Amino acid sequence: VHNGIIENYVELRRRAIRAGRRFKSETDTEVIAHLIQMEIGRGRKPLDALRRTVKELKGSYAVIVFCRLTPDRIFIARQGSPLLIGCGEGEQWIASDIPAILPQTKRIAEVFDGDIGVVTRDGHEIWDRDGKRKERDCREIKWSAGVAEKEGFKHFMLKEIFEQAHAVRDTLRGRIFPDERCISLDGAEKKLKKIMGCLRQITMVACGTSYHAALTGEYLLGDMCGLPVVVETASEYRYRNFFTDPCGLTIAVSQSGETADTLAALKLAKKNGSPVLAISNIMGSSIVREADAAILTRAGLEIGVASTKAFTTQLAVLCFLGLYIADLHGKISKEDFRAISTRLLELPRQIQSILRRSDEIRKIARRFTKSEGFLFLGRGANYPIALEGALKLKEISYQWAEGYPAGEMKHGPIALIDKGTPVVVLVPDDPRTYDKTISNIEEVKARRATVIAVTTAGNKEIARLADHVIYVPKTTWFLTPILMAVPLQLFAYHLADLRGKSIDKPRNLAKSVTVE
Ligand code: M6R
Repeated sequence: VHNGIIENYVELRRRAIRAGRRFKSETDTEVIAHLIQMEIGRGRKPLDALRRTVKELKGSYAVIVFCRLTPDRIFIARQGSPLLIGCGEGEQWIASDIPAILPQTKRIAEVFDGDIGVVTRDGHEIWDRDGKRKERDCREIKWSAGVAEKEGFKHFMLKEIFEQAHAVRDTLRGRIFPDERCISLDGAEKKLKKIMGCLRQITMVACGTSYHAALTGEYLLGDMCGLPVVVETASEYRYRNFFTDPCGLTIAVSQSGETADTLAALKLAKKNGSPVLAISNIMGSSIVREADAAILTRAGLEIGVASTKAFTTQLAVLCFLGLYIADLHGKISKEDFRAISTRLLELPRQIQSILRRSDEIRKIARRFTKSEGFLFLGRGANYPIALEGALKLKEISYQWAEGYPAGEMKHGPIALIDKGTPVVVLVPDDPRTYDKTISNIEEVKARRATVIAVTTAGNKEIARLADHVIYVPKTTWFLTPILMAVPLQLFAYHLADLRGKSIDKPRNLAKSVTVE
């Protein structure tokens, strides 16, 4: 069993064919089996055969090997792809991530890059890449098997959307103290003390929804801390020649902590001398282990392929990280610190009030089940939320959707607008962006678009302009993106459900993308 990509498999396959091996498939995986068998043919024991085989492999792999000669043993090796062992009584489990084995056991042993090992019914033995015997102890994880159940919700995605108030509350718990003017980063502040003091630049790397969280962070951290912030899609990072500022910090954002491109970008940043902070939902994941320090989101297990609570908790972390840095660098007054951090702690309650509008949002969604293309528009920190709203729709409803900075619309996308084209506009009561976004609504209305506006509670003007309005509670501009994200998730969910799509397992998608 192999997860990953063997980059030099063509060369290895040719060699094996020259040695008389006959292949049954075109897969890179098969080459591993042949190499092991060739080594066994030379008189080596299976573990040694596997050790010699993986030395030949270039690329990434998590491999599980069964050998007829030793039916009571399973051999494993890991490099670059996730792998862990679930420890049971008289049984062991091997998987790439925790949810797969959670119904069986909550005791998990991590397998590290370069590790090779033997798993039997009663336990495991692991050696590192230098052949040193390593103790990879089983630790108890906190998630209960119940988290892997829908608990009355139709889909995991809906359950996870509804868990957001709780998830954000957990993520903030014990980390924000408005009156003491204090933010705790769970020890990351100590590990990164040197860089935090002289911080001049931040680079963030991430993929998918986590990339949208990072893009939102670009606005939040940039504005709050007065620092240049660059965000790069992790898969593109290595193709750019990034200037590594000795006083720069790289932040890798990843729910799973196993996304291959984000991990590769993190490793490259480290190699180039940058300290790295991970923002992840999974303790002990590869990205958390590789980083110099980590701040964990406490979203709990996320099973739905479309990420929801991981996103809002990532945003919550970026908000208090921004407050921490701004305060450290003297960029925020005591009053503002107290006001914003107090507002931050109000978010769970506010999210809850948006969730109560789920049925209302479903009614709106019902009108668009036949629509073919959507535009999502936002400005400032809500522009990445427009991107995220469009991504959610694409992923689970399979309708084309484009996220755009509202001001860019007249530079091209407006040509797509026709009678009835649905345009979702994020228009919070932020004085910096409000008037201009209203003009955008007028522009698309003039072209007979159907506008669904998401705005701040109490706004009276937008109901006169838009066809449908969804209200979110009032907060500071800094926190608006978190609230704006929730109705867009519900909108995408209800549309996909009304269209009868496979919401938790959308076509062509995997929960964690562990190959580059
Ligand atoms: O685990 P990560 O946050 O690193 O995953 C990144 C993306 O693969 C992920 O966000 C993906 O885009 C989701 N399907 C979005 O809903």
